[in-house]
Amino acid sequence: MICVYADLDALSRAAAELFASQALKAVKERGRFVVLLAGGETPRHTYELLAEEPFRGLVPWEEVHVFWGDERCVSAGDPRSNARMARLALLDRVPIPPEQIHPVAGARPPRQAAEEYEALLRAFFATAPPRFDLIFLGLGDDGHTASLFPGSAALEERERWTAVTQRPGDAIHRVTLTAPLINQAALVAFLVAGGGKAAVLSELLETPPGPDLLPARLIRPVKGELLWFVDREAASLLVQAR
Ligand code: 6PG
Repeated sequence: MICVYADLDALSRAAAELFASQALKAVKERGRFVVLLAGGETPRHTYELLAEEPFRGLVPWEEVHVFWGDERCVSAGDPRSNARMARLALLDRVPIPPEQIHPVAGARPPRQAAEEYEALLRAFFATAPPRFDLIFLGLGDDGHTASLFPGSAALEERERWTAVTQRPGDAIHRVTLTAPLINQAALVAFLVAGGGKAAVLSELLETPPGPDLLPARLIRPVKGELLWFVDREAASLLVQAR
């Protein structure tokens, strides 16, 4: 389902409402809420809203468990760190138990960080299905999501839950979750804003797959829901959203 919002603020408010409603539902049904956060810039305002009333008081932070869909292989204090962005915008401002925040060890060698994160995920989910209650994802203008970039071998991964990738032209490595794990989620919400995403969103949602796979096409929840939260600028080329 595609939800079009007037601007980033309205989109972010809707995403914060989704987070809060999913959290209350998951905690009521299963005693915990397991969420996967996206990096990049688009989700920042959503995280900031969640740290403020009314959302701060609505969300059962004591039962929230946070993971990341991807991380740049940099130190925790590096401005490029996705975990750092989420801590400054949200996690340092709400009463979530620190042991329930699970960042990727970005400062470790990439392969080791990926293997450790996979082990952490497998231990966390243990005997339960690895099913996130909510996953936020962003979308790059090349169709990437998380750190699943076009042409990456990680797009072929069918077993492992994490992979090491590199954005073309970017020196740093990244650790990313793979599509098989993401697609186990109960609900995946893409947050897409800005005119710069209009072309890729139109291609992704309104044209048949071409010879070059857009990684975001891999995201198809097996037994879950897929939502697109987009602003009017990003939706400007969509026929179905008019
Ligand atoms: C990252 C994200 C990445 C991001 C897209 C969109 O680590 O950068 O995981 O997938 O979501 O690149 O980024 P913006 O929201 O900044 O446009």
